[in-house]
Amino acid sequence: MRTMLDASRVRNPELFAKIVTPDKASEIILDGMNVGVSGFTPSGYPKKVTTALAEAISKGKQCRINLWTGASVGPEIEENLGVVNGIKSRMPYYAASNKSLKEGINSRRVDYIDQHLSHFAQQIDYGFYGNVDVAIIEVAAITKEGNLVLGSGVGNTPMLVKHAKHIIVEVNTTIPLSMEGMHDIYLCAKPPYRREIPIYHVGDRIGSPYVECGLDRIEYIVESDILDHVRTLTPPKPCQVKIAENLIDLLEHEQKMGRLPQDKLLPLQSGVGSIANAVLLGLDKSRFENLEMYSEILQDAVFTLIKNGKIAKASGCAFTPSSYVWKTYAENPDLYNKRIVLRPLDISNHPEVIRRLGVIALNTPIEFDIYGQANSSHIMGSSMMNGIGGSGDYMRNGYLTVFSTESTAKGGSISRIVPMVTHCDHTEHDTHVFITEQGIADIRGLAPTDRAKLIIEKCAHPDYRPMLLEYLRYVETHIKGHEPQDLQKVFNMAIRFQATGTMKLID
Ligand code: COA
Repeated sequence: MRTMLDASRVRNPELFAKIVTPDKASEIILDGMNVGVSGFTPSGYPKKVTTALAEAISKGKQCRINLWTGASVGPEIEENLGVVNGIKSRMPYYAASNKSLKEGINSRRVDYIDQHLSHFAQQIDYGFYGNVDVAIIEVAAITKEGNLVLGSGVGNTPMLVKHAKHIIVEVNTTIPLSMEGMHDIYLCAKPPYRREIPIYHVGDRIGSPYVECGLDRIEYIVESDILDHVRTLTPPKPCQVKIAENLIDLLEHEQKMGRLPQDKLLPLQSGVGSIANAVLLGLDKSRFENLEMYSEILQDAVFTLIKNGKIAKASGCAFTPSSYVWKTYAENPDLYNKRIVLRPLDISNHPEVIRRLGVIALNTPIEFDIYGQANSSHIMGSSMMNGIGGSGDYMRNGYLTVFSTESTAKGGSISRIVPMVTHCDHTEHDTHVFITEQGIADIRGLAPTDRAKLIIEKCAHPDYRPMLLEYLRYVETHIKGHEPQDLQKVFNMAIRFQATGTMKLID
């Protein structure tokens, strides 16, 4: 077959015989198969073979797959296959930006199993979900030995490759070859043979720069030149800048109290989305230097902070391949190659390493309640927005765990601080500090009703503060118990919300 691929991308001449069209490669994917794809929050996912599969389904091929990934991927997979009803089930994460999949999940046409992201690779290894029938992996290049040089996302690729019966490799010529060496691929052994993960500093390298695969295991190669389809982050809004300032105040206070090292901060983790990006960007204006990140996804702000000399080392399982990031990377590849380490998802999010390094976890909830529980995933208890992602990995194991968000959503018509979350992803046992543009509620060591007073006073929007206080006074007076809730009132609130789209209520 004629190809644009050359020896810089496919480094063993034998492999050229394996180059096929996406249609041909997609033929090995059959109904009911477990199909693992590379990619993480759309970074480094394959595009050609899944598009060909979706086309074949639209022409009558009977095929619904179980789709396994690192996190959300792009429209060439989730949207194209979602539209033709080609996805039977989905693990371990999905994001609402893929509309047809969102509709499929919320109408229960697609079985979605939402998981802590650090768990999935080891559960594949343990055989909890059966075989990986096919793995489709996007790469920058294939080495002479048949090992895989990845691009901007590692995710669960190493474990998918380890277990795949059939491997299709998409070689994407848009991925800069200069990235080679940025990756550190390490697979944990299974219990009872598992040892400690020897990462003691953010930048430690403990594995190989390639995903081991081997020439014989590569069944087909498909060439690609399609860029990752990245959701644009909104520029920081004034209230997000205020949240960032509050975060800086908190971190300075922690240093003053001797609870954080004086010379530099402990490593930071930052969640996904526009709010998380804006909050991290706020650190550019802080007096903190030599920052380190031990995080999952490295969003745009990380590149700005590296460029401005603020971040010394950043470890993640992917970076967001936005046009801003690629442009910034291209200006000085060496700088980012030196500063960034990309690891498998189960290592970037591993509880052992997060605890050892003392990671400061910064995540964004959809809503949180007066007692300190947080909801990261569901709207009104039923509809999936985004999966829990890695937030639980970090919030459960972080040195200091901070949830920050705006105090309201949907133009002020919804309070993000509620009496009781409609879905609980993070319990009161895992959350230390809440920040909104209104202020900081540090609930460490506080009993439930003291937590409630502080959260309402410091975090709730003034429009909603009186009714939350009224609710608290009511339950303190009328309801017995350690953490008083009036479920009827909470229920009425939810019902009214569904009817009116506003939370201006308490009976
Ligand atoms: N009720 C109803 N809708 C709400 C809401 C609430 N309490 N809070 C937020 N939303 C809606 C917003 O209106 C917005 O909807 P739109 O896209 O239709 O405008 C959407 O949820 C996203 O919220 P936004 O305020 O834009 O914040 P974001 O882009 O920073 O995303 C999360 C926030 C919670 C969705 C995001 O952080 C997330 O996916 N978290 C879970 C996974 C995670 O934490 N991963 C980190 C791993 S390291």
